[in-house]
Amino acid sequence: MPSVFIKTYGCQMNERDSEAVAAQLVAKGYSLAGAEAMADVILVNTCSVRDTAEQKAIGKMQNLAADVRKNRPNVLLGFMGCMAQSRGKELLDRLPDVDLVVGTQKFHRTGEFLDSIFAGSRDRICDTDEEAGSEAAIREHILAGNSAAKSPSAFVSIMQGCNQHCTFCIVPHTRGQERSRTIEDVVSECRDLANQGVKEVTLLGQIVTSFGRREIGTQNGLSAFVQLLDAVCEVDGLERVRFTSPHPKGYGDDLVDAYRRLPKLCESAHIPAQSGSDRILKAMHRGYTRDRFLTIVKKLRLAQPRIGMTTDIIVGFPGETEDDFSQTLSLVSTVEFDNAFVFKYSKRRDTPAALMVDQIPQEVIEERHARLLQEVNRIASAKTHAFVGKTVEVLVEGLSRKNSARLEGRTRCNHIVVFEGEPQLAGRLLDLEIDQASHFTLYGKALQLAAH
Ligand code: 5AD
Repeated sequence: MPSVFIKTYGCQMNERDSEAVAAQLVAKGYSLAGAEAMADVILVNTCSVRDTAEQKAIGKMQNLAADVRKNRPNVLLGFMGCMAQSRGKELLDRLPDVDLVVGTQKFHRTGEFLDSIFAGSRDRICDTDEEAGSEAAIREHILAGNSAAKSPSAFVSIMQGCNQHCTFCIVPHTRGQERSRTIEDVVSECRDLANQGVKEVTLLGQIVTSFGRREIGTQNGLSAFVQLLDAVCEVDGLERVRFTSPHPKGYGDDLVDAYRRLPKLCESAHIPAQSGSDRILKAMHRGYTRDRFLTIVKKLRLAQPRIGMTTDIIVGFPGETEDDFSQTLSLVSTVEFDNAFVFKYSKRRDTPAALMVDQIPQEVIEERHARLLQEVNRIASAKTHAFVGKTVEVLVEGLSRKNSARLEGRTRCNHIVVFEGEPQLAGRLLDLEIDQASHFTLYGKALQLAAH
């Protein structure tokens, strides 16, 4: 059977989708190639959120196509995911060497499409149609057999799509309307993972706090998302529960209280602020004010004083004045995020912001981006350095991605720690003493297995 290599761009949801496609293909008898150069099928899973992400994937495919045409004409090439969904057949027209385009509601059919191309029954395939039930179609995980390679942390997709329609965002076009899995379905997947040795799950969705809003609704003052957190935290064997990405409007008192009530819920929150200016937040259609955002931060810190907090920010949204930008800078300094992902506004097709008249010149965007990044890094660095000398608990994930002679783990607050130890420690909870820090990474010494 042919071998497959999947190159993934973008968010954790894309990683999760790639993992599920890989598992699906392995179940059909395909093997996973260790490198592109050895693969019979190369799939590029794409991101559309900014233009640079699309250009990267297109550039990658152009290079692959040139190489394949010259050296290995039988290799099959495909695009999957968000750009596949938003550009569809245009990709086949533009890149004649591409054989397959699989949209975001069709991942579970990738194997079937490849089979029919290999069998010669179909030539080139593009499928970006909607499909009812696609939010629950992906369940497969790849869990390698040998314990040193097995990740103790798994992504679980709980919902698909987003109805928020922020004016800058292409996601409603690429991922469609919100649809959620059932609580039972998600819990049974988490139970299966725990039975296979997984210790930590990250619940994924484009707007997880809207989970089950229509399908399940609020009960006893708990939103459907908090009901799900309660149910997942009850799964035996799981030690830690995380989620991403939420929307600030989902941080009602029920969710804040969940951080107090649920010991497995990690003290970590990635809350996208996008801007610190009320005028810009309104133009973005975010549905909250700066003040409301700061109130959420305050309440979360009251519930969990050590909570790790990160955010996403866009600079250069149309109409952003120097005064608006200075309010974003001051939001960042006030909250003191552990880290922030700072993005340059990128015009996306079919979004309301793309049509706004007061687009910001690129050099102004670059300059604000640099200034904000400097402030973000200054705070992040101070926060990581404050850990030196302290003891933290990590879940050992396996070999360090930066230095394979060392191990890597994550604290409950979501800091990465690199340390020395035996690979067999993967999957264990370990107490470490932090002795060094860089901008975002901590370095430590193993003390003992954590008491659990
Ligand atoms: N331009 C720049 N950044 C964007 N994001 C989403 N759309 C755009 C855009 N058009 C950012 C937001 C979001 C993150 C995933 O990507 O900050 O939270």
